[in-house]
Amino acid sequence: MIPLFTFEPEEKAHLLNLLEPLDLSPYKSYTGFSEGIRRLHSDVPARFLSACQIIRSERANHQQKIHVIRNCPMDRLIPELDPEDPVKDKHVKKTQFVSEAFLELFAQLTGTPLLSYETRNEGDFFTDVIAIKKYSGQLTGFSDSELVFHNDRTAHKVRADYITLLGMRCPEDDLIYTGYIDGVDIVRNLEPRHIACLREPHFYTVFDIFSRDMNKQLSTSEKHAILSNDHSIRFLDTMTCVAEQAPVEARDAFIAFKSAMTRSHCKRHRILTGDLLTFANQDGLHNREKIDILNPESAASRWLLKTYAFKDLCTAESFQSYWSRNRAGCVID
Ligand SMILES: [Fe+2]
Repeated sequence: MIPLFTFEPEEKAHLLNLLEPLDLSPYKSYTGFSEGIRRLHSDVPARFLSACQIIRSERANHQQKIHVIRNCPMDRLIPELDPEDPVKDKHVKKTQFVSEAFLELFAQLTGTPLLSYETRNEGDFFTDVIAIKKYSGQLTGFSDSELVFHNDRTAHKVRADYITLLGMRCPEDDLIYTGYIDGVDIVRNLEPRHIACLREPHFYTVFDIFSRDMNKQLSTSEKHAILSNDHSIRFLDTMTCVAEQAPVEARDAFIAFKSAMTRSHCKRHRILTGDLLTFANQDGLHNREKIDILNPESAASRWLLKTYAFKDLCTAESFQSYWSRNRAGCVID
């Protein structure tokens, strides 16, 4: 994809100077960290402010729900993480938080409060898309595998509206693409009778292995609809199934949905180091394709920093009953 916005070297240097002095760790006190960033808004380069405004309005008008920003400010030192337990290692090795600060700033400027899960990485608001050795070859973002079309955390009750990924380390000779198909397109490719049926709770989703490992009580979701709102989707390919008791029309609608996905236009982006890729989690589906891996070892060291966000403050506040120990945005599974 062509980036919506690319930082000029002087704009990037200016933001680095602004974000670097903040020495609060978002992993120790997210609230303090977030407030520190909020105080910097008046010094943010004007071109970046207006890019964030464009993203806000294109999302609100359902015009475009995937965007790329290039040459973003990041930590000067990106540590190598231990593939056995990269998250624990990150907490030890990471002493600069410019990348996290930039993601937080982006969330604030687009009006999308961050979301985290208490049972995932101790409720961290900044998580990692990085291969963990024990999940190699499995269907989870924490593997080095390809990923089928899905929403993140499909089976969970509280789900992010937007996902943002920042390329911390993206090997140059490996072609790994993130694909995105928009819900508007999928719904356009469906007949009204199938749409009506997909709006009924005739389906369920098996939780992914990482979620099951983090919380042993999780196995499958409650029965749910695949379509909701105008074109929100709840679907994890090969793991979302038709419930046994569902009428035969639900099976037909399910097949029609899979065909509609195939007919929908897929936008693909290869995340480079310093790229920010942001897209709708519920109003679309995304995947990961490994097109050509010339160097499996370097591909396995790929590291993206990730945030989940609610679409606005009002939506975030509607989930207040899920907040864990009064930590706004951090939900109990
Ligand atoms: Fe995902």
